[in-house]
Amino acid sequence: MEIINWRNEFSVGVAEMDEQHKKLIGMINRLIEEQHNLTDQKTIAELLTEMTDYAQVHFRAEEYLMAEYGYDEKSNQEKMHQAFIEKTISFYSATDIGPNILSTALLDYLSTWLVSHILKEDMKYKEFFRSKGLS
Ligand SMILES: [Fe+2]
Repeated sequence: MEIINWRNEFSVGVAEMDEQHKKLIGMINRLIEEQHNLTDQKTIAELLTEMTDYAQVHFRAEEYLMAEYGYDEKSNQEKMHQAFIEKTISFYSATDIGPNILSTALLDYLSTWLVSHILKEDMKYKEFFRSKGLS
């Protein structure tokens, strides 16, 4: 599977959010790059947990800014963020045994979700935060 390459069009105009998106992309890229080397269930679970934990940190930071500046799509964003975490967790906690390989379906979901969330949803706040003087 292809890794995600950061492009300028991913920039949401708020440096802190761009940095967090880059870090999240980096964590997903690592999973993509090591998909076939990762066979230890415990390591896979740890890396996925690390990624979802960081995603939550990022989502909270984003939601905090939205609350602070009165962004009207905040509750919509919260729902999408929550759904992403739940779906990701359901991918690897569906059975008692857990996965012993990282499935392409999971990696494809992570990569597609993040890219389209940034480009379609987060991009909607770009002009809003810019008008509030954030950069
Ligand atoms: Fe985001």
